[in-house]
Amino acid sequence: MVNTLQKPEFEELRPGIKVPSQETLLTPRFYTTDFDEMAKMDISVNEEELQAILEEFRTDYNRHHFIRDEEFTQSWDHIDGDTRRLFVEFLERSCTAEFSGFLLYKELGRRLKDKSPVLAECFTLMSRDEARHAGFLNKAMSDFNLSLDLGFLTKSRKYTFFKPKFIFYATYLSEKIGYWRYITIYRHLEQHPEDRIYPIFRFFENWCQDENRHGDFFDAIMKANPDILNDWKARLWCRFFLLSVFATMYLNDIQRADFYASIGLNARDYDKYVIEKTNETAGRVFPVILDIDHPEFYDRLEICVKNNEKLREIDASNSPQPIKFLQKLPVYASNGWHMVKLYLINPIRVDHLAGVAR
Ligand SMILES: [Fe+2]
Ligand SMILES: [Fe+2]
Repeated sequence: MVNTLQKPEFEELRPGIKVPSQETLLTPRFYTTDFDEMAKMDISVNEEELQAILEEFRTDYNRHHFIRDEEFTQSWDHIDGDTRRLFVEFLERSCTAEFSGFLLYKELGRRLKDKSPVLAECFTLMSRDEARHAGFLNKAMSDFNLSLDLGFLTKSRKYTFFKPKFIFYATYLSEKIGYWRYITIYRHLEQHPEDRIYPIFRFFENWCQDENRHGDFFDAIMKANPDILNDWKARLWCRFFLLSVFATMYLNDIQRADFYASIGLNARDYDKYVIEKTNETAGRVFPVILDIDHPEFYDRLEICVKNNEKLREIDASNSPQPIKFLQKLPVYASNGWHMVKLYLINPIRVDHLAGVAR
C-alpha cells in the first residue's frame, strides 16, 4: 500500500511517476552537437592516450558495483517532511544530469561509429556507465514512491546545441566536478557514518571513479586538439565555462543547504571545497583557472544567492504576472552585473605549464 501521508507534495504524471522539475537556468541541461564536425576531428596526436582510456572503459571496473543490496529493502518513511522533499530533489537532479550524459554519449557513439571508431566506442562505453548511474538513482527515487519517466524526459526536454569544443569544455568540467562532489560526500560519510541516512552514498566511491575516467577522456580529446586550448579565445571560453559551472552549483546548493545539513555537511564549505579541487584539476588541461581566492569571488556569489532568494519570494507572492516581471527586472540586472564582474576578475594563467606535470 502506498502511504500517501508520507509522500512529499510532488506533482505526478501518473501514479508514482514524478513530473520533471521545471527547466530553469540552474537545472541540468541536455545537449546536442555538430556530429559531422566531431567525426572529422583528427585525434592522431593523442591516439595512444585515448586507446589506453578505451582499454580502461572496456575493463568495466564497475560492472558488478551497481547492485542494490538488502540495506535498501526497508521502509524509508522515517525520512519525511522537508528532508524527504530535498532528498527526492537531490536524487532527481542527479538522475537528470546522469541521464543527460547518457543521451549525449549514446548519440555520439552511434553517429561516430563508422567514422571515428575509437571515439565512438569510448562514447558508447561512457553511455553504459551513465545509464547505470541514472538507473541507480531512479531506482533510489522509487524507494520514496516516485520515479522519473526517462522516455518522457528524452522527448520533453529542450536540447542545447553546442559546437564540439564547447561540449568538451562543458562535459569535461561536469565530469570532474561530479567526481569531486561524489568523493567529497563519500569521504565525509566515511568519517561520520551516523550521517549516512540512506545507503546510496556507500556507492559513491567506485561511482566517482567512472566520472574521473570520463573527465580524463575529455582531457585527452582536448589535448588531441591543442588549438582549442591555446589561443585567446580558448582562455576566454574556459573562464566562462569555469565560472558558469561553479556559479550554477553554488546557487543550487546554497538554496538546498538543508539537504546538505541532513547529511551533516555545511553546503558552503562543501561547495567551496569542490570548487577549489575542480578548479585545481582543470588547470591540468585548461589554459586558465579562476582566481577563487580573490576577495570578490564569494562576496559577489553571495549577492547572487540573496538575489535568487528575492526572485523566489517574488514568484511565491500573489502579485499579477506583469508586476512580478517588473519586480524581477532589477534583480536580474543585479545578477547579470555581478556575473560580469566575476567574469572580469583576472584569471590565473596556467598554460605556460603545458607539458609539465602539474
Ligand atoms: Fe555518471
Ligand atoms: Fe560521467
